[in-house]
Amino acid sequence: MYDLIVKKKMGKSLTEEEITYIVNGFTKGEIPDYQMSAFLMAVCLKGMDKSETIALTMAMAHSGDMLDLSEIEGIKVDKHSTGGVGDKTSLVLSPMVASLGIPVAKMSGRGLGHTGGTIDKLESFPGFSTSIPTKQFIENVNRMKMAIVGQTANLAPADKKIYALRDVTATVDNISLIASSIMSKKIASGADVIVLDVKTGSGAFMKTLEDSISLAEAMVEIGNGIGRETYAVITDMNQPLGRAVGNSIEVAEAIQTLNGQGPEDLLEVSLTLGSYMLLGAKKTGSVEEARKLLLQTITDRSALNKLGEFVRAQGGDDSAVYNSDLFPKASIQEEVTAGKDGYVTKIVTDEIGMTSLVLGGGRETKDSIIDLSVGIYIHKKLGDKVIAGESLATLYGNNAEKVKAAKERCLKAYTIEESKSEPTK
Ligand code: URA
Repeated sequence: MYDLIVKKKMGKSLTEEEITYIVNGFTKGEIPDYQMSAFLMAVCLKGMDKSETIALTMAMAHSGDMLDLSEIEGIKVDKHSTGGVGDKTSLVLSPMVASLGIPVAKMSGRGLGHTGGTIDKLESFPGFSTSIPTKQFIENVNRMKMAIVGQTANLAPADKKIYALRDVTATVDNISLIASSIMSKKIASGADVIVLDVKTGSGAFMKTLEDSISLAEAMVEIGNGIGRETYAVITDMNQPLGRAVGNSIEVAEAIQTLNGQGPEDLLEVSLTLGSYMLLGAKKTGSVEEARKLLLQTITDRSALNKLGEFVRAQGGDDSAVYNSDLFPKASIQEEVTAGKDGYVTKIVTDEIGMTSLVLGGGRETKDSIIDLSVGIYIHKKLGDKVIAGESLATLYGNNAEKVKAAKERCLKAYTIEESKSEPTK
């Protein structure tokens, strides 16, 4: 391992055999955390080429069980985001796509750094289980076309271990490491069609469009290269998606969207990603037709009912699907107000994600227990006019000190200037 760290530190390419040795050795506990951390930092500083990235992905995918979904009828689709703030698209588009008869067999993650995770959000439904056995996962997808599970203990265990280390060693934002982390899970979890939402901007791990395109290309090449039809859509993360950031507050916004009353940007991203899921599943031949079909699932309430059916099927109480007031409420509500008149020209979006984390909505350590009721509701987004004293955002918390710290953080994330600038589409 020492020699391989040196080799990467010198910027040399590793062979497939060397990469497999590292991944297997680390997964089995034979390579210690400190050597793996040094190696990951060398990868961040020197990069990996295409063949190294593919070798890393395949070694991680094969580090544990490979799910066999052949018992599920039809073309199985999955979707994964590279991580964002206020990103509740999975909760919107999965029931939309499933209600059109397409099997959505989805593997999701927990919150990561400043970004949220679908698995944490789903736990807002009392009793909901994100770790159902594989047999039930397959049965649920066959019966009602939708199941979402977290990473089980032996599915891409290398990613689970490497990820935990990256999280605390400032080695998250590397294209090869992100591509291999996401694609190893997608490959091991067996879907035929993979749709990737590659975020770009201040709330994403890839801050520039150029890096986001490189990440998207790397993942699409890996997926298509092993016979999984893979699409990537690059979407804006220079401000939170929608207005709700947190856990149950985001689920409530997803439900609002399935009721036809959600924010436009969230609906747009959901329709776009959902369209590629429909195209991949051969439900339709055009994005235009796919969008119409997806919109119909909102109008006829089939997507909302599918969400309820899905929550019940995984042991959850679905009452909140039909009445979001039933989600637990935070005890403190605090407004973050503008200090001057002007227009919102910038929102440092990863700081908004950190504001939610500080309130208790994310993990500060591996063992933190998150508070599902806290979060932020964004009133002012990019390009909006504000008047001094007006509320930019409402914070929901359960601890006065945390709310105070979160308020300072949230206010600093906003830039207000005299002249308006148009937000990115
Ligand atoms: N999501 C993942 O699963 N892995 C990453 O590295 C980043 C986002």
